[in-house]
Formats: sequence, C-alpha cells, structure tokens
Amino acid sequence: RGAAIAKQLLQFSRAEASKLVPVSLSQTVLEAKKFLEHSFPKTVLIDIIINVQHGLVLADGGQIHQMILNMCINARDAILARTDRPPGGRIVISLQPASGRLVEEKYGWNAAAHYVQLTIADDGIGIPEEFRLRIFDPFFTTKGIGKGTGLGLSIVHGIVTAHNGVIDVESRENIGSTFHVFLPAIEHQVIKDSSDQVEHARGRGETILLVEDEILLRDLLTEFLVRAGYSVIDAGDGEEGIAMFKAHANSIDLVLSDIGLPKLGGEQVFAAIRKIDPKAKVVFCTGFIEEAKRELLLEAGAMNIVQKPYKVPEVLSAVREALDRA
Ligand SMILES: Nc1ncnc2c1ncn2[C@@H]1O[C@H](COP(=O)(O)OP(=O)(O)OP(=O)(O)O)[C@@H](O)[C@H]1O
Ligand SMILES: [Mg+2]
Repeated sequence: RGAAIAKQLLQFSRAEASKLVPVSLSQTVLEAKKFLEHSFPKTVLIDIIINVQHGLVLADGGQIHQMILNMCINARDAILARTDRPPGGRIVISLQPASGRLVEEKYGWNAAAHYVQLTIADDGIGIPEEFRLRIFDPFFTTKGIGKGTGLGLSIVHGIVTAHNGVIDVESRENIGSTFHVFLPAIEHQVIKDSSDQVEHARGRGETILLVEDEILLRDLLTEFLVRAGYSVIDAGDGEEGIAMFKAHANSIDLVLSDIGLPKLGGEQVFAAIRKIDPKAKVVFCTGFIEEAKRELLLEAGAMNIVQKPYKVPEVLSAVREALDRA
C-alpha cells in the first residue's frame, strides 16, 4: 500500500509542472479503451461515442491518459460492486463540444470560449448523496483497507484544474454515476467539429426509431439525434422495436438499430419490419460483424452498417444519406 501511495503521489505532484501540447481526446479515449479492455473482466464493456473530430485540447497527454484510466477503474469497481445482478456492466465514454456559455451557466465560471466535454458514465452502484462532496478529497475511499488509496479522484481533480477545466458528477444509487469533465478546446478545432462536419448531415424533423438495449448508449444517442434535428422514438430490445414500428409505421422515416439485441436480434427485427413495410429504411450500428453477415444484411436491403465505436458524425451521415436515398 505504501508503494502504491508513493506512486500516486508522485504522479499527483507532476500535475503542476507539465508541458502542454495539442492532444487529441478522441485518440486518447480510443487508446484507453484498448488498454483497459486487456485488464478488465470481459463482462465489463466499454462503449465510446465520439461527437468531435479530434477533440483537441492543450494538455499533458500522459496526465489526460491517467485521468481517463482513474475514472474508468473507479467505474469498473462500481460495476463489480453491484450484488443485485451477475458481475458485469457497461462504461460509456463520450466526447462532445460544449460552449463556454454552457460552462459559465453551469459553474458560474469559465476560462474559454469552447470546451470539449468528456463524459464517463457507468451503471455501477452509484455514490451515496452524503459522499458526493468528499469523493475528490485525498484519501477519501470506501474501498477496503489495502484496496483503495483514495487518491484516484483527487489526482483527476488536480489534472482537470491544472488544465483550466471543471469536473462534475451526477449519480444515483444502484443506477450509476456519470462524471463530466470540461476541458478548454483548441478553438478553431471545435468550431470545425461542431459545424462543418455535422451541418450537412442535420435532420429536418424526420422521425427515427432507435433500437438499442443499453440505456446509457440509448440516452446519449437520443440526445445527439434530437440535437441534430430529428425526433426519436426509442426501444430497448428487438420485440419492443417491432412493436414500436407497428404502432408508428406511418411516422417513422428510418430505423437505427443495434444488431446484438436481447429477445430478437437485429436481423430478425429487420425481417419483421420489412414484412410490415417492404420499403422501410434500416441502418445498423454494431460492434464487430462478420463480413458474410454484413453482406447478407446489405443484400437484403439494409441501408448501411456503421461499426462501433459510435462516431456521431458517421452515424448522422449514414442516417442522412439513407433518408436522402430514393
Ligand atoms: N464511478 C464511481 N461509482 C461509485 N463510486 C465512486 C465512483 N468513482 C469514485 N467513487 C467513490 O469515490 C471514492 C474515491 O475515489 P478515488 O478514485 O479517489 O479513490 P479509490 O478508488 O477509493 O482508491 P484508488 O483510486 O486509490 O484506488 C471511492 O472509494 C468510491 O467510494
Ligand atoms: Mg479510484
């Protein structure tokens, strides 16, 4: 334990004197995911939703990496601490642009015109209200002796502060926790991220049926779609997806569906929807998919298959392109 504390403190003290260079948050997040997936149990899944092109910030790359790791390790611990279900759960990391005005409104303080917002959400045990203000304190831990030093989040806090950022947490017991980090963005980058790229792919009030079983992902995707100008009807599994399509077939312009769904998989959802409306437009979002399966779905008339990690601009482009196709 002594050695662990010493190591953490060493990293902590470095938070001040660091060399700042442009760091791509999207690249750092993708690298962190790769790194963590090797050490986390297979039942702890990490999903990424990227809604910036690079998410460039002036930063110490090593510290940003450590900040993400510390928060993800906490998320893993919170997931594995749940005793009300088989061990396992999900972490969703997302990146999006945020304005200085939003930060000002939320925190009454603001250091830049543009920020990149990094969100790390888990479906773990959550944080009891009475601990909410103390979790960033050095040595505050609820983990057993020899398990936690209680320095992880104070290091994260130090790193965020050293980068002129803010950090915030929302949490509900037995539902999960969501940490938001706002870091000042390298200006022209974010303006480009949020306008050029997404502007051509905006919605014009069309209605999307979103079929995704993971609540965290579904909520975030809904938010991005609504913000891009779409109306969203959502469903949490294959059966519900089909029921929703039946109920709203006339108003749904496109179905955006995961493939690995509980109850009925994406292929079955696709077949059922096409039976109701042979011209229904369906775009899939999925993790790994075998080439043969992919070709089969496209031959059957699926409009597109977007591979995870979710890159919001890619999803929006695929949606727009499918809607515009005859
Ligand atoms: N995602 C989370 N979900 C639930 N509780 C959390 C989460 N992140 C932090 N906490 C709470 O905040 C406390 C402090 O976290 P912190 O990372 O500073 O220390 P630690 O994880 O206990 O120890 P260490 O990081 O040194 O291993 C944790 O003990 C836990 O009670
Ligand atoms: Mg920790």
